[in-house]
Amino acid sequence: MASNNQLDTKSQAWSALFSEPMSELVKRYTASVFFDKRLSSADIRGSLAHAEMLAAVGCISGEDLASIQRGLAQIQAEIEAGEFEWQLDLEDVHLNIEARLTQLVGDAGKRLHTGRSRNDQVATDIRLWLRDEIDLIVDLLKDLQLALVEVAERNVDVILPGFTHLQVAQPVSFAHHLLAYVEMFSRDTERMLDVRARTNRLPLGSAALAGTTYPLDRERVARTLGMVDAQGQPQLCQNSLDAVSDRDFAIEFTSAASLVMVHISRLSEELILWMSQNFGFVKIADRFTTGSSIMPQKKNPDVPELARGKTGRVVGHLMGLITLMKGQPLAYNKDNQEDKEPLFDTVDTLKDTLRIFAEMVGGQTNAAGQKEGGIAVNADAMRAAAQKGYATATDLADYLVKKGLPFRDAHEVVAHAVKTAQVQGLDLSELSLETLQGFDARIEADVFGPLSLEGSMGARATIGGTAPSQIAEQLKRHRARLG
Ligand code: ARG
Repeated sequence: MASNNQLDTKSQAWSALFSEPMSELVKRYTASVFFDKRLSSADIRGSLAHAEMLAAVGCISGEDLASIQRGLAQIQAEIEAGEFEWQLDLEDVHLNIEARLTQLVGDAGKRLHTGRSRNDQVATDIRLWLRDEIDLIVDLLKDLQLALVEVAERNVDVILPGFTHLQVAQPVSFAHHLLAYVEMFSRDTERMLDVRARTNRLPLGSAALAGTTYPLDRERVARTLGMVDAQGQPQLCQNSLDAVSDRDFAIEFTSAASLVMVHISRLSEELILWMSQNFGFVKIADRFTTGSSIMPQKKNPDVPELARGKTGRVVGHLMGLITLMKGQPLAYNKDNQEDKEPLFDTVDTLKDTLRIFAEMVGGQTNAAGQKEGGIAVNADAMRAAAQKGYATATDLADYLVKKGLPFRDAHEVVAHAVKTAQVQGLDLSELSLETLQGFDARIEADVFGPLSLEGSMGARATIGGTAPSQIAEQLKRHRARLG
């Protein structure tokens, strides 16, 4: 016969109220233990903080607290050793741990759930778990930024064509190009830290939905769990209905993660293009590529391609989570159990992708403490590409403007010059001074400076421009920021 105080009889029925046991299919359909056991450490940490507070406010005795602590320590050890027996019958990570605790320490285990519900428990667990994952992700974002900065430092004077519409536009430094991604990943880091602040708030004490009749000290629990702001002030969810039900922090996180993946996907697309025979700008180490089963000459950029593909997967999780929330009335609904798998997969995919990219871009540290095996740059191929497509045409227009011609007129003059050069199969810098002067008499011998790739690049020295002097400033700023 089912009893209402024995968790391990739940497979029969929840309590005396239920007249029949759950069917096997329903049990499988509703259980989450095989994926939410991943929250076990967070669950135990939350339980320890809750129990310590229950003892401090006099809801449980000191002996009960000691028993709970002992039991939970043993459970943690069993889980780490792979010896814990997870039971589908016990539905989720919370009931599995609580049942085992009661088995180990008796009544003290049954007192742990005083003033608590699985609703505020699970919301706390996910927040704790995600907060720590965000910290790891922020570190990985830093590693990737550092890898990009290192490659940039070696390639300030390497020129490649900058594109708009994937048409040659103006010459830019390869370092400048890489630092564009550093900016993206730096904003991604800001977003992650911003999400972290809203994730790191305590739901516990909200109980099932309305709060609890016990005199719980929520601020104490928040402090114990490190749910504090920069000033050390405890951060509590301030409305119990909201605390147990909303998963907006998980949606925000997945949105921030999607943006990281989108940035990685853009970089991937460039690497794939740059590695193609038609560009030949870079090579990545062989271990990030694969061969073809039929074409012996192939080295395919699988890692960037997969990263581009996995971006769809993470964006899909964002769609899943945000749709999960839509239409849920207050307060907790079982729908929310579906938040975990997309969230876990987002974290796993993002962390693996960041790790692999940091190594693919920056290389590995060898025995001598130097990095090797990062992306290899073919500066000649980049330069040759920059010399095609009249990348310095704007510079000729700017030259004429500085000699007094209105910009629109200068634009027109240069269009004629480009047309003539195209017919002759020459670059603008290869036209003779006489030919150039035929387009505008103001042109003098000093025009060849701006018409060179170096001249063009070096002249763009506004803050954020591609001039080496400006890149040096940016590199200094990033180094100071990243260490
Ligand atoms: N496994 C559940 C989840 O992930 C825990 C909360 C269950 N609460 C409930 N009232 N059934 O959301």
